[in-house]
Amino acid sequence: MNWSDFLSRRLAERRGTPLWRNRQAHQGADGRLLFTSNGQYLNFSSNDYLGLSRHPQIIAAWQRGADQYGVGSGSSGHVTGYTAAHHELEQQLAEWLGYSRALLFISGYAANQGVIAALMEKEDRIIADRLSHASLMEAAMHSSAQFRRFLHNDIDSLKQHLTKECVGKTLVVTEGIFSMDGDCAPLELLAQQTKSSNSWLMVDDAHGIGIHGEEGRGSCWEQNIKPEILIVTFGKAFGLSGAAVLCDGHTAEYMLQYARHLIYSTSMPPAQAVALSEAVRQIRAGEALRQSLQNNIHYFRHEAQHLPFSLMDSRTAIQPLVVGDNEHCIALSEQLRQKNLWVKGILPPTVPVGSARLRITLTASHTRQDIDALLEALHEPGY
Ligand SMILES: Cc1ncc(COP(=O)(O)O)c(C=O)c1O
Repeated sequence: MNWSDFLSRRLAERRGTPLWRNRQAHQGADGRLLFTSNGQYLNFSSNDYLGLSRHPQIIAAWQRGADQYGVGSGSSGHVTGYTAAHHELEQQLAEWLGYSRALLFISGYAANQGVIAALMEKEDRIIADRLSHASLMEAAMHSSAQFRRFLHNDIDSLKQHLTKECVGKTLVVTEGIFSMDGDCAPLELLAQQTKSSNSWLMVDDAHGIGIHGEEGRGSCWEQNIKPEILIVTFGKAFGLSGAAVLCDGHTAEYMLQYARHLIYSTSMPPAQAVALSEAVRQIRAGEALRQSLQNNIHYFRHEAQHLPFSLMDSRTAIQPLVVGDNEHCIALSEQLRQKNLWVKGILPPTVPVGSARLRITLTASHTRQDIDALLEALHEPGY
């Protein structure tokens, strides 16, 4: 088969199905609004949970960083891409989150790939919650280690896997807050299991960091555990992008030697690190923003009880409404868009087959009136 036939065949398999993926270029967005050439929408699909993507002090910090360092880092951190700004941010993150070390990665995807690829060897095994993010699942699938999934948030299912013999090391993987369901992992119970089985726990807290726990320290802090590997990402509550791995000194030294995503990739721009340092300060002092978000979550859940959808068991900013059928989900998302409400439909394989959903995300920037507009549209007959 030639290349063109291959591409045509694979595209034909998808074209015209609800699984066809589209991107739409827009003219700007934040945690509340999204602007396109067709007008302004209320944005209920952003992960900018605290509205920090447009925070004036964070923007000013990025500009200061660009003035001092230029706009790019110039190389991998192992060559000349590691600046005082990166070093300071790593120290600040480690101190805030109670770890010896933090290592910066350019994205959460890269961090998850890099850590799992570096740590896991052939005789080892990875046991992951079956709803873990694609970046974790894919890293596990590509690893030479054995890969098993346990039932979502089900400790007995994890225990069953752990009782099986493994000659190598075991890494148990979960998200702190699940990105598509919005529910929280039972971290304390998971940590008990990993401790008693001499395994390690890796928690990806992309959706918990900045939001949960004292000073926004995240789901692990809130549930009073300290996993051996904590992943925090900066594309959500921080309003920027990038990620960090929190770990002990020994593990950090190992990563610096073996994590290929660190060694062979240009580090994040130093100006971004300066902006992220300011974002950490804003998050730590951001109790009022966290409170606004919590108020919006409570209000939405209270008022949404009478919607023709059942709410999921989520007390977080992610409030999905499961529609089930793919085409129906796409149609609902489109109907909401006609009313200037931006709510992305999420379809398999991102979520399990038969559970297509409107993934509503609430932020600190939404007003009561914004939420009322969404609820009113969702109440309309036909849904
Ligand atoms: C749980 C989780 N982990 C990792 C990622 C990837 O992070 P990044 O966007 O920084 O690559 C995401 C989403 O983007 C996520 O939801």
